Amino acid sequence: MAVPSLRRALFLAAAAALPFSQLVAGQTIQTEEGVVLEANEKTVAPAGKAVADSNAPEAFVLTDDVIANLSDHNLSNITLFAFPEDDGTTEVQKRTFLASSGCKTAPGDPLWPNRSIWLVFDLLTGGALIETVPIGAVCYPNSGVYNAAKCQTIMANWTSSDLHTADPTSIMFPMFQGETCMPQNGNSSTCTLGGFPVYAVKATNVTQIQLAINFARNLNLRLVVKNTGHDFLGKSTGYGALSIWTHNLKKLEYIKSIKTPSYSGPAFTIGAGIEVKELYEAANKHDVTAIGGDCRTVGVAGGFTAGGGHSPMTSIAGLGSDQVLSIDVVLPNGRFVTADETHHPDLFWALRGGGGATFGVVTGMTVKVWPKTNVSGMTFTVVSGNTSALTNDVFWEGMYAYWRRFPEYAKAGTHGYSLVFPSPLTDGFAFLMNPFWAPGMKLADLKTLVQPLLDEWTKIGFNAGFVGSPKFFEYDNYYDAWTASYPPEAVSTTSVRTASRLFPAKNWEDEETLTGMMKAVRSVVEDGSALVQYNMQAKAPAGTPDSATNSHWRDTVWYGIFGTSWNASLNAAGVEAINRKITEDWMGRLRGYGPGGYLNEGDVMEPEFGEAYFGSNYERLRQIKKAVDPTGLFWAPTAVGSEEWEVQGQKKWLTLQTGKLCKKAAL
Ligand SMILES: Cc1cc2nc3c(=O)[nH]c(=O)nc-3n(C[C@H](O)[C@H](O)[C@H](O)COP(=O)(O)OP(=O)(O)OC[C@H]3O[C@@H](n4cnc5c(N)ncnc54)[C@H](O)[C@@H]3O)c2cc1C
Ligand SMILES: *[C@@H]1O[C@H](CO)[C@@H](O)[C@H](O)[C@H]1NC(C)=O
Ligand SMILES: *[C@@H]1O[C@H](CO)[C@@H](O)[C@H](O)[C@H]1NC(C)=O
Ligand SMILES: *[C@@H]1O[C@H](CO)[C@@H](O)[C@H](O)[C@H]1NC(C)=O
Ligand SMILES: *[C@@H]1O[C@H](CO)[C@@H](O)[C@H](O)[C@H]1NC(C)=O
Ligand SMILES: *[C@@H]1O[C@H](CO)[C@@H](O)[C@H](O)[C@H]1NC(C)=O
Ligand SMILES: *[C@@H]1O[C@H](CO)[C@@H](O)[C@H](O)[C@H]1NC(C)=O
Ligand SMILES: *[C@@H]1O[C@H](CO)[C@@H](O)[C@H](O)[C@H]1NC(C)=O
Ligand SMILES: *[C@@H]1O[C@H](CO)[C@@H](O)[C@H](O)[C@H]1NC(C)=O
Ligand SMILES: *[C@@H]1O[C@H](CO)[C@@H](O)[C@H](O)[C@H]1NC(C)=O
Ligand SMILES: *[C@@H]1O[C@H](CO)[C@@H](O)[C@H](O)[C@H]1NC(C)=O
Repeated sequence: MAVPSLRRALFLAAAAALPFSQLVAGQTIQTEEGVVLEANEKTVAPAGKAVADSNAPEAFVLTDDVIANLSDHNLSNITLFAFPEDDGTTEVQKRTFLASSGCKTAPGDPLWPNRSIWLVFDLLTGGALIETVPIGAVCYPNSGVYNAAKCQTIMANWTSSDLHTADPTSIMFPMFQGETCMPQNGNSSTCTLGGFPVYAVKATNVTQIQLAINFARNLNLRLVVKNTGHDFLGKSTGYGALSIWTHNLKKLEYIKSIKTPSYSGPAFTIGAGIEVKELYEAANKHDVTAIGGDCRTVGVAGGFTAGGGHSPMTSIAGLGSDQVLSIDVVLPNGRFVTADETHHPDLFWALRGGGGATFGVVTGMTVKVWPKTNVSGMTFTVVSGNTSALTNDVFWEGMYAYWRRFPEYAKAGTHGYSLVFPSPLTDGFAFLMNPFWAPGMKLADLKTLVQPLLDEWTKIGFNAGFVGSPKFFEYDNYYDAWTASYPPEAVSTTSVRTASRLFPAKNWEDEETLTGMMKAVRSVVEDGSALVQYNMQAKAPAGTPDSATNSHWRDTVWYGIFGTSWNASLNAAGVEAINRKITEDWMGRLRGYGPGGYLNEGDVMEPEFGEAYFGSNYERLRQIKKAVDPTGLFWAPTAVGSEEWEVQGQKKWLTLQTGKLCKKAAL
């Protein structure tokens, strides 16, 4: 055991086997010198100091003074929670990293902190440390937490995102945690931790996040951030990790008027845990329109804004990242800062579009809002195949007629959200417009806009496939229109992979490119891919400060999510074939037309992800990452700088989060 500082680290006088919750109050910590200190929520946990000059004025933050104070109390070895020296590391960190052979320290490694050390961490955070119990464990008779009634509830609610959002570690694409401890398999397998983190900090204040960051950095632990767990690429989970769970940071405050160098008007200050529906409800109360996703439960200030964030308002208001006025963040060095146009401008740039879990933990942000707006729209369903009078050829002709109009519709400020998928049971295809959405447009004007398309469809016979006729709607506010148009989406299905592409307007300028692109997309859907498609423009509104948002977004008029699911009992070769097909064959056919993809809904195996997910911003983002996080504390698949690390034990065609995270050998 090569690490004397750890050997000298404190230990608890109490029995190590008690659950944390029972150890928080009234316990004593005994230092190696034999000094016994009563450590409880009152003496230790408020390890913070009020800061005045922050966007979160009530925030208490961890400072050097506080650390020194804890040392005075013989809360040894407090260096485990210390801030780094000027070169970005601490003594402890240097030693732990040297002894780590290039991998993050994982359970079972000699340097993995023992229970006593975790208990001290728990005390410092005010009892916020949660030892991971996979959400499905209650379905496993031998798990020690078996509970038939809870198991039934979990199984009944499995596809509801609220179930996973409310759990400290559950994620909505269970494939990435290795589909371990699935509740459905309770009677036939064993519950293990798989790719779940080992511990999670239930963060309710900034200090806890600072402690967690310092602790993970100093001890070379893998750190992940989970907000809601919506991530499509497995970015909010990780084997052997400590997770910071931001879901409970629920601040939500309306600001009547705020002035920044580039904006003047109403805004919201939101905590990192605020979900789309919560922001929309508050905006509706104040008669304004706020920007979030389609989905009710996505975390606005989490992955959504960090990755760009498209919404039904995008053609008018730009992306989520375009709404941000200032961001509160705990950096990889543990320091809490507020970044805006004038303070930490590089960070402010990078945090808007540069991806989640890369530059620190965002604790909250201030976002601008838009005036109350009318929304008109249209929905319809079209099917082809042997139960319909519509042939497949005419189905595709009708799709072409629609796709050809994308630049016009995007420019008009509309947002078309629709699904196209093969329906093998009828040898046909389905097209669900769900909805064609026109904020601020009178219903009569929307009808005028789409009439030429409807006429063309009548002319070519596409109408034969309509199930009913198109339905039009109009609401006098965003909230009611959104509530009616976007029902909750089912999540947590297994055996599914996605990829995405951003198709730029310039493809429409050349007939050969346009037809080539449309045929390529058709061929991929004919080959079995579903297509979730968005017709919109995603330009930054005038006056928006430059951001790291994927440059490919800015000239996009067609955004498509592709992918498919497979039978869970498909054999290994079959699973490999379908996974490779998505990344290599299907995306291979489309990359020439759409080199960009959307990092929040993309393919975890996207080969040139830097170019695809960040575009021309990638090099600058890498520089900022190196400056802000020199030791690589934050890592997530396809995040900026992630190419320097790899998860061990993975297939060439799919990276899950089930193995140790190790630095790649220097080339
Ligand atoms: C059903 C569904 C619907 C969706 N609809 C939309 C949509 O309409 N528009 C759209 O743009 N996207 C949509 N998405 C994609 C969504 O934007 C991403 O999944 C996004 O990453 C979710 O962010 P989160 O914080 O809610 O989720 P999480 O999975 O918890 O986090 C996502 C990523 O952000 C990081 N992160 C989270 N919080 C923080 C924080 N405070 N600080 C630093 N890093 C953080 C995580 O580590 C992870 O890397 C949808 C996804 C699903 C599953
Ligand atoms: C804590 O660790 C530091 C660094 O190893 C060491 O200098 C210090 O003496 C230790 N403090 C105590 C009280 O053990
Ligand atoms: C935990 O680790 C510390 C430092 O290595 C050591 O002093 C302590 O005895 C250990 N505690 C337990 C319960 O193993
Ligand atoms: C140090 O701790 C004492 C006692 O807990 C407290 O009164 C004081 O405010 C603390 N000082 C700082 C700088 O945190
Ligand atoms: C801390 O330890 C030192 C040395 O053992 C001792 O002199 C001092 O009184 C202790 N302080 C507290 C607050 O317990
Ligand atoms: C942070 O929250 C914990 C848990 O509620 C609490 O014990 C602690 O005092 C808080 N710390 C600060 C600095 O507010
Ligand atoms: C689970 O489902 C039941 C009924 O089906 C519902 O009452 C409950 O609110 C759901 N719970 C969650 C967490 O989704
Ligand atoms: C396991 O078996 C019991 C008894 O047959 C049944 O009630 C329960 O629903 C099963 N659990 C799961 C997760 O299938
Ligand atoms: C429609 O096509 C499916 C799939 O090929 C076939 O099984 C089915 O019998 C067909 N139905 C009719 C009415 O032709
Ligand atoms: C807004 O929508 C309502 C229907 O909800 C409609 O009566 C009204 O005329 C619309 N206003 C404008 C300006 O289009
Ligand atoms: C999945 O495959 C199994 C075994 O081949 C088969 O019994 C089952 O019907 C399939 N399920 C679906 C939905 O195709």
